[in-house]
Amino acid sequence: MATATASTPKALPGKVPGPKGRFLLGSLIEVSGDWLGFYNRCAEEYGDVVRVHLAHVPVYLLAHPRDIETVLAANAANFTKSADYRALARVLGKGLLTSEGDFWKRQRSLIQPAFHRQNILAYATVMTRAAGRMLDSWPEKCERNIHQDLMRVTLEIVAQCLFGAEVADAAERVGKAMEVVTERFIANASLAMLFRFDIPVFLARGEWRAIRELNDIIGGIIRKRSSSDQPREDLLDMLLRARDADGNPMSGEQVRDEAMTLFLAGHETTAIALSWACYLIAQDPRIEAKLAEELQEVLGGRVPTPEDLPRLRYTEMVLKETMRLYPAVWGIGRRALRDCEFGGYRVPAGSNIFILQWRTQRDPRFFPDPERFDPERWREDPVRSGKIPRFAYFPFGGGPRVCVGASFAMMEATLLLAMIQQRFHLETVEGHPIELFAGASQETWLKQTSSGAR
Ligand code: HEM
Repeated sequence: MATATASTPKALPGKVPGPKGRFLLGSLIEVSGDWLGFYNRCAEEYGDVVRVHLAHVPVYLLAHPRDIETVLAANAANFTKSADYRALARVLGKGLLTSEGDFWKRQRSLIQPAFHRQNILAYATVMTRAAGRMLDSWPEKCERNIHQDLMRVTLEIVAQCLFGAEVADAAERVGKAMEVVTERFIANASLAMLFRFDIPVFLARGEWRAIRELNDIIGGIIRKRSSSDQPREDLLDMLLRARDADGNPMSGEQVRDEAMTLFLAGHETTAIALSWACYLIAQDPRIEAKLAEELQEVLGGRVPTPEDLPRLRYTEMVLKETMRLYPAVWGIGRRALRDCEFGGYRVPAGSNIFILQWRTQRDPRFFPDPERFDPERWREDPVRSGKIPRFAYFPFGGGPRVCVGASFAMMEATLLLAMIQQRFHLETVEGHPIELFAGASQETWLKQTSSGAR
């Protein structure tokens, strides 16, 4: 097997293949019209390493797990986050998602312990209570935009896990401001990739207002908390109490950046995964019935607890398969710090690299009949058993920068999916087609009927 390394390039056959693109614009128009379709077509036509021009900026698309492993894990030190993360840094400052180098390393070591499986179990009750309130508010037979409901409940959950009760009054304002910020993210990320400078403030006034609003609310909570010595059982308390190897705490600004990061990274992704899971289950009565059988057997109608998680195997398989077909984070960008080689092609230092869960997780070389939603693929996990390469499936990324909230997200998604399916039968609503949108969110309209039969 040819291995890709980020060391000195060997003899290389020639130019990286890819679409020629238009004069000056390259493939910008095609990409912005349909990111996922365009990148898919590129991989089909040109293979595992493709060079695309977005105006004057070359971007290398990598589709093979071997190359993805090189970038994310084996040679992670040779890559930094791509320029598009600058758009996020405007909101998140130097939080975990947007920082680099030793600074990131220190922050990661301070925050990671709070997300160890053992430490997040306490949040299960916050999750099931919030889900219970959402489900109690659903009438027996109704049509709803379930994605909106799920966005609301995951926001409420992350807010409570972070700030305890203090954010309750502000949750709606925070939600709205977050929406403005995430809606602008794709546009801002593209601009950050194309230009080395930030767009002037007046062009994005609404966004700056939203950032100010978030700073006011979150800054206020942090200030209030810092001056209180009452211990709390939430993530903010953990951020305030964390000390590095020299016994130093995080600065106030750093706590703010990390709280904002966890807030932003911690709800929309989980809501997207759950929306798609509900949609896919609604398409397949056999899968719905199998899930119902497991839920009845394990829970018998009661609210799930963390102790039930190991026995909710099929629920977890449904979620894993959902995240294969519809990864909430559909691509990851990096920039090469040194010349590197992928699949026999030289990629120069400074290049933008883009890897796509969307593409690789639908690759027939690793997933037979890849478009089919089949949770059974995960009965005997093909990654764990070594049947497919480790980086053929990476919804949470991988290597040192793997999602710090992965266990939190899986626990939340499993508990919520179990509760929704326990109490409701869902169908898609005519006149509200589900459209794929490669942004930070998408709409999911589902009709739900409470199912007395279960
Ligand atoms: C289904 C839900 C989720 C998905 C699919 C997801 C996906 C990801 C991915 C792919 C990355 C890596 C990005 C990169 O390498 O550039 C990431 C990083 C991160 N995620 Fe998640 N995530 C989810 C939920 C969460 C939750 C619930 C939290 C926190 C409460 C969270 C916090 C973070 C943070 C802080 C990082 C940055 C880690 C670092 O760079 O050290 N995520 N996530």
